[in-house]
Amino acid sequence: MAQSIPAVKGTRDFYPEDHAPLQWILDAWRRVSLRHGFDEFDGPTLEHTELYTRKSGDEIVEQLFTLTDRGGRSLAMRPEMTPTLARMVAARQGSLPRPIKWFCMPRMYRGERPQRGRLREFHQWNVDILGVSGVLADAECILVAVEGLRELGLTADDFAIHISDRRLVAEILTAIGVELERHAIAYGILDKASKMPIEELSRRWGEAFPGILAFDKLWAALSAADVGELSGRLREVAPQLGGLTGAAGLTALMGALTSLNIIEYCKLDLQVVRGLAYYTGVVFEAYDRRRALRAICGGGRYDDLLAMVGGKPLTGVGFGMGDVVLFELLSDLKRVPALAASGGVFVVDIVGGGTGGAAADESLPSNELLRIVAALRRAGYRTEFSYQRQAVGKQMAKASEKKAGHVVFVSDKSREQGSVELKDMAAGTQRDVAMADLIARPAEFLGAPKC
Ligand code: HAM
Repeated sequence: MAQSIPAVKGTRDFYPEDHAPLQWILDAWRRVSLRHGFDEFDGPTLEHTELYTRKSGDEIVEQLFTLTDRGGRSLAMRPEMTPTLARMVAARQGSLPRPIKWFCMPRMYRGERPQRGRLREFHQWNVDILGVSGVLADAECILVAVEGLRELGLTADDFAIHISDRRLVAEILTAIGVELERHAIAYGILDKASKMPIEELSRRWGEAFPGILAFDKLWAALSAADVGELSGRLREVAPQLGGLTGAAGLTALMGALTSLNIIEYCKLDLQVVRGLAYYTGVVFEAYDRRRALRAICGGGRYDDLLAMVGGKPLTGVGFGMGDVVLFELLSDLKRVPALAASGGVFVVDIVGGGTGGAAADESLPSNELLRIVAALRRAGYRTEFSYQRQAVGKQMAKASEKKAGHVVFVSDKSREQGSVELKDMAAGTQRDVAMADLIARPAEFLGAPKC
């Protein structure tokens, strides 16, 4: 026997029972996006590698799955959507109506070490607004992330959006002596803080920034719960620091989130800096309240990205939310509903007492059954039947397994008098219906179609 070939490490097979909850999540994301005025778009899975090496940041570049095409060009499977979005907008920048509010839910590929919450292939909901520089666009993106999680039954007790601002963190870094061109290195180290032991971070920080404030001191200062507390803590470790002008944006954002009635889902957290290199302002990540899992989503403002991919300057803000951590959180909290399709129609064949088949082949269902099945399906009803002629008990067992709402019995009477028996499974009632009426006006007997 040939050896079986397993699925690639870090990828998932979605059997129907796994696909139903995935689709439930994707449907919720789409509903929420449309409700907030976003239009759906998509792009290619393959991009030129350069699109990511220019501005995504070292970590993502290290994780790229790349290949070389026959012309010798280096291509990469998309690890994130924001560079594709920027490229697409830049290509039609003059003609796109503003503001640009787009969403998508594609699969992404990252060569990460597979671990809880991180795989090599995942779905990622992206929601972005381009062309609005005010705080309201930041607030609206956070609102959509909150509503997306609420739509799946999560509450303020289950998750929180942790919000920071790179302008403020940049001000602090500059004040403690980190040169501007080395801020990206500092963000990279700070972004690792929730995933690595503090000793390892201190070592990396010390190597990158010798003689500058020790990592644990900076980290402790950034754990302040509000801007007032932050200023106090920072003055202790960096007396030269001025008035924290970068805090103004955060104060305005918190005001907008209060007006949008989602402040209970949000908290200031200056330890969030984000790993990607292109963020320029507000940054945020959603975490489960127990902090048992990796980030559920992450995003922020990227006002320079368009110019970096060859466009004219255009501001942008948005987030990406993966399905992997979300699944883990929903499963831990037992919030994934039972999703088996139900309420369809099952047509049972008892022509010839359940054993005599269509004219050509005794083992096949009757012609009457096939006619009803085809008509109901065309009318929009999820309709099933048994491919093989079987005893009625077996066919009824299949109908219950499929959670059918109605069962239609096709019998000799159907051939002779043109009628079928219709059973309402929930009510347990049964009645005689003319086959022609069922085909002509199914809604009268079955209710509105469900698919
Ligand atoms: P990111 O933080 O790299 O940001 O990813 C956002 C989310 O995607 C994460 O919070 C996580 O839910 C999911 N994710 C990332 N990597 C993996 C993985 N290996 N396995 C499973 N899930 C993963 C971005 O991608 C930005 N482009 C988001 C953005 C959009 N910023 C502005 N607009």
